[in-house]
Amino acid sequence: AAPGTAVPFAPTAPLTVPTANATGRVEFPDGFVWGTATAAYQVEGAGAEDGRGASVWDVFCRVPGAVVDGDDGMVACDHYHRYREDVALMRGLHLGAYRFSTSWARVMPDGRTLNPAGVDFYSRLVDELLAADILPWLTLYHWDLPQALEDRGGWPERDTAYRFADYAVAMHEALGDRVGVWTTLNEPWCSAFLGYTAGVHAPGRQSPADGLAAAHHLMLGHGLAVGALRERAPEASLGLTLNFTVSDPVDPADPADVDAARRDDGMFNRIFLDPILRGAYPQDILDDVAHLGLADRIHDGDLDIISTPIDVLGVNYYNGGAVSARPAPETEQDGTAGPDGARAAGDGPVRTTSSPNPVPDGVHAHSRGLPTTDMGWEIQPEGLTRLLTRLQRDYTGPRGTALVVTENGAAFPDVVEPDGSVDDQDRLEFIDRHLRAVKDAIDVGVDVRGYFAWSLMDNFEWALGYSKRFGITRVDYETQDRTVKASGRWYAAVARDNAVPS
Ligand code: NOJ
Repeated sequence: AAPGTAVPFAPTAPLTVPTANATGRVEFPDGFVWGTATAAYQVEGAGAEDGRGASVWDVFCRVPGAVVDGDDGMVACDHYHRYREDVALMRGLHLGAYRFSTSWARVMPDGRTLNPAGVDFYSRLVDELLAADILPWLTLYHWDLPQALEDRGGWPERDTAYRFADYAVAMHEALGDRVGVWTTLNEPWCSAFLGYTAGVHAPGRQSPADGLAAAHHLMLGHGLAVGALRERAPEASLGLTLNFTVSDPVDPADPADVDAARRDDGMFNRIFLDPILRGAYPQDILDDVAHLGLADRIHDGDLDIISTPIDVLGVNYYNGGAVSARPAPETEQDGTAGPDGARAAGDGPVRTTSSPNPVPDGVHAHSRGLPTTDMGWEIQPEGLTRLLTRLQRDYTGPRGTALVVTENGAAFPDVVEPDGSVDDQDRLEFIDRHLRAVKDAIDVGVDVRGYFAWSLMDNFEWALGYSKRFGITRVDYETQDRTVKASGRWYAAVARDNAVPS
């Protein structure tokens, strides 16, 4: 497609041939970045300390039934008080980078006014990381909008985008001398469509029109922030992280299934990719959602702002899915499908309540019988190779934008041995297979610069509370003890050797 236009959907064929990287030792390019990721609300705790304001997640967690077991992030992993120990843990794991997020409500309790005590925490964290020779990889927004801004309309309100850019500049003012990598948003799909359309994430609104408006304003805020940061720091590495699915039609010969895959891919991937990296919304998606008022939200010049060039695209990948226009047969349904057959894809929680679809009506996930993680997500490493290859071909390659896997990992029901150890071979194998898939992409010329395992440690898994564990380190929430799991010890060796062992 010509520059300035969106790329039409085309299904990609599953990679069925075993690759050279399927077995044996696999080396990564020099300088490949090895890290782990977390997010403020999921690990920090200290929910009411040093002047922190409430975020939409604080409020959402108090809604009865919103979060499994009524859990919340008030204490979480107590990282706010234990960050020194956690940085030492990372150093022991030979990690070169730490992807964390700053809490907007901690540094601006009302969404606008700086709280120096809140900023100071991140300043201390950054210093600690630098002293340990770990690159701070900062994300400005990982879903915890100050409640004060939600009270003024939240992301469906255009003004929130401008408030976000101000917040970005304030953070850069405080940390720009020490932090070189700035990610604006993490997974705006979740913020917009799980938060405002489906209502299964904070702030729990259920309006498809609000979800689309939120998506547009999140992207606008991203573009405004990138422009402002670029002006202040031309040498900084700027970007955002998106979550992706790989949408395969259940029956590639059935036009209705191919169309379901087109819509799924459109509302998940292309609705962000094309505006941000090509400066245009996909026309098929604009047509599909014409009744929801998105066009009225798009002001002249917005797409120029949204497509302000970025240096790095963060890729979060957990799974793809086979989709159809037909509901899945009852017996075929697994945890990836909600009660009405609609998909709770990738980062979505398994939907347990009846709520508007975060994905287009009439798109149904079908199980392919692949093994699944504790989230019910099918394990599909080759999808990552296809995804990275497509991203470079259609989106990042033409602009010279680097790719980094900013999240990949798995929840499994860990078993703690009597000696306290966790022998999580399932998680180890999951990461091993996905790293091999990354190398497959690198070998065909895709510019992938790094990989961050989700997560450094078990933490608050949003609407699923503490019931799902993604950590390569176990957290005992009673004692706050951290214990590196088998996957963590294995990953430390990978980071040390810049290679996956045979
Ligand atoms: C993506 C999100 O960024 C993160 O917050 C979440 O915990 C993981 N996926 C796992 O669902």
